[in-house]
Amino acid sequence: MKTVGIIGLGGRMGQGIFQALAQSPTLRGKGGFGRHTKDSASDPSAKQGLFMESCREVYLHHDMIVDVSSASCTELLLNEALNLEFPKPLLIGTTGIEHLFHTIALAAQKMPIVVAPNLSLGACLQRVLAQKLAHILPESYDIDILERHHKHKKDAPSGTTVALCHALKKERTDYAWGISSSPRSEKTIEVASFRSGNLPGMHEITFCSQDESLAITHTAFTRDVFVKGALMVLNALHAYRPGLYTMEDIMKSLFK
Ligand SMILES: NC(=O)c1ccc[n+]([C@@H]2O[C@H](COP(=O)([O-])OP(=O)(O)OC[C@H]3O[C@@H](n4cnc5c(N)ncnc54)[C@H](OP(=O)(O)O)[C@@H]3O)[C@@H](O)[C@H]2O)c1
Repeated sequence: MKTVGIIGLGGRMGQGIFQALAQSPTLRGKGGFGRHTKDSASDPSAKQGLFMESCREVYLHHDMIVDVSSASCTELLLNEALNLEFPKPLLIGTTGIEHLFHTIALAAQKMPIVVAPNLSLGACLQRVLAQKLAHILPESYDIDILERHHKHKKDAPSGTTVALCHALKKERTDYAWGISSSPRSEKTIEVASFRSGNLPGMHEITFCSQDESLAITHTAFTRDVFVKGALMVLNALHAYRPGLYTMEDIMKSLFK
């Protein structure tokens, strides 16, 4: 049984993953790190003494780490990891961390790291299919992404949208991406983000020509889909060698 430490333990995703680990036959949660560590008497995890003093402590006491916190906390975690003699496999689910990619690449020389801005299987397939369509369809098809999330989400556009844009740019290398404008800029993937209510996440990518449009929509109904994806990755991750991996890499190995 492998143990998993959770960074962002007190949050929505952190609590979901902790509860799912309690049901897992292969993985076990012992605790983690989060801002609630010292001051949240009402938090059930705090009451049970599950919060540790630092990211370093979480690293030392677990076989693997999952990070679902915030960009500032992920930075803290990566700096700790770079200083450890025996760093552990790490799954980063936190979004809005594009500015940390250099540090992530450095840390990935010492340990396997999966960066997964969207942990659901459907969103992973949406990215694969979108890249294929960008390869097949001519440039006369404009590409747009519309995304909706709950109003507490801190980043916009979402990490999933950024990952979709990176996948599309592999096929349309001279394209930029940015918020929608009028008139439309040539060679631009246009993005629109809305933050409202309690929606876990919806991404729609549309290829639109003069004659037709083709859309692929992914909607997460609940956060459970991300939690399930996190456990799927963690179950595979401990066998990986140091390096930087995507959700696509993990899924390919699971479904080949
Ligand atoms: N990859 C995916 O599929 C996926 C799916 C959903 C969400 N996410 C991402 O996962 C992250 C967490 O989402 P969430 O909905 O669980 O958010 P949340 O409910 O706000 O939870 C974040 C947790 O991290 C803690 N935290 C943040 N910054 C910290 C710091 N500097 N030091 C210590 N603890 C810190 C927060 O503590 P406080 O409450 O005290 O601030 C909170 O407990 C976000 O980046 C979100 O976009 C990813």
